[in-house]
Amino acid sequence: MAPLFRRRANSLAVVILVGILALLVAISVFAYVVYRSPYQTDVGYAPEQPVPFSHQHHVGGLGLDCRYCHSGVETSDFAGIPPTLTCMTCHSQEWTNAEMLAPVRQSLTTETPLSWTRVHDLADYVYFSHRAHVNNGVGCESCHGRVDKMPMTVQKAPLTMKWCLSCHRNPAPNLRPLDEITSMGYSPATDGASGQMLMQRYRIHPDTLKECATCHR
Ligand code: HEC
Ligand code: HEC
Ligand code: HEC
Ligand code: HEC
Ligand code: HEC
Repeated sequence: MAPLFRRRANSLAVVILVGILALLVAISVFAYVVYRSPYQTDVGYAPEQPVPFSHQHHVGGLGLDCRYCHSGVETSDFAGIPPTLTCMTCHSQEWTNAEMLAPVRQSLTTETPLSWTRVHDLADYVYFSHRAHVNNGVGCESCHGRVDKMPMTVQKAPLTMKWCLSCHRNPAPNLRPLDEITSMGYSPATDGASGQMLMQRYRIHPDTLKECATCHR
């Protein structure tokens, strides 16, 4: 009797141990998945806005260039959000009474800017510059995705350090000629030769791009 009982107790202990181990593994896998998930990195973040502005209509439909509204993108660190006057160049004639545009008209008469909610927001200890990318062959689409297909603006890239570095280690396949910078649906230099040619044209040296001080200064 006694030995049999002990063997059972042993196997019970083994079952419990295996169970605890499996649970621990499951918890850490779950934690890792959550940590790495879009939820954690804000991929897919598309906040509610004061006016339901659609890039799909204005870029995809009307064919406006990004720089028409984001005029700082080539000359400063920030792309900039257009002032109400930019909207009014058209909307003083188009859709003048639309309910949807009431906040835009109100912003004009009260001279208070619309309070857009930021979609992308890097931590303050990270230095980022639009000018540095846009003038060196990195197109909007490489970081923001198919904006021309967005009825609501949504974050497409994780904006983690790993993501920045994956391009800084090997920028060549992500480069395009300057006249394609704001194009949507353009495939960057996918063959090695044209990538290397663009690396030379823009005088890009990947070694300094990996240094901490490039992004943390
Ligand atoms: C007619 C003006 C207009 C044009 C043209 C335009 N945008 Fe915008 N864009 C806006 C406005 C207004 C916002 C703020 C509201 C929003 O986030 O949807 C915005 C927001 C954005 C944001 C998110 C900013 C944030 O808060 O992080 C990105 C990215 C962006 N635009 C990229 C582009 C790109 C790329 C193009 C060209 C393919 C483009 N836009 C063309 C008006 C415009
Ligand atoms: C170059 C002209 C032009 C500019 C600049 C412009 N719009 Fe429009 N917008 C239009 C036209 C045309 C339509 C009607 C689109 C349609 O029905 O296809 C429209 C439609 C809209 C609508 C209705 C919803 C939709 O997308 O169909 C909203 C809201 C809107 N615009 C907001 C804005 C805001 C905010 C700005 C400034 C950041 C702006 N627009 C700048 C031409 C413009
Ligand atoms: C190398 C990646 C990259 C490229 C290329 C890029 N962006 Fe951005 N963009 C970002 C990041 C990262 C942020 C968030 C910056 C922050 O939070 O300080 C951002 C923010 C923005 C914003 C909102 C804040 C601001 O800067 O005023 C707009 C609008 C925008 N981008 C438009 C554009 C347009 C238009 C282009 C192309 C002409 C473009 N971006 C190219 C990565 C990029
Ligand atoms: C798709 C490719 C790509 C992505 C993604 C990217 N970069 Fe860059 N970055 C470049 C290229 C190309 C340059 C230009 C290099 C040069 O001037 O030689 C650059 C330049 C820079 C510079 C200027 C360096 C200097 O010495 O002036 C900074 C700062 C920078 N990147 C920060 C970032 C940060 C932060 C992120 C992520 C949020 C990021 N980049 C994502 C390709 C990229
Ligand atoms: C190409 C740009 C870039 C370079 C180069 C870079 N970082 Fe970062 N780093 C970032 C970004 C972007 C974040 C923000 C990550 C986030 O919010 O998830 C970050 C975050 C961090 C953090 C905060 C903790 C974390 O992981 O979120 C530390 C610490 C850090 N970086 C250290 C370094 C060190 C050390 C180096 C050099 C070996 C370095 N970084 C090089 C872009 C860069």
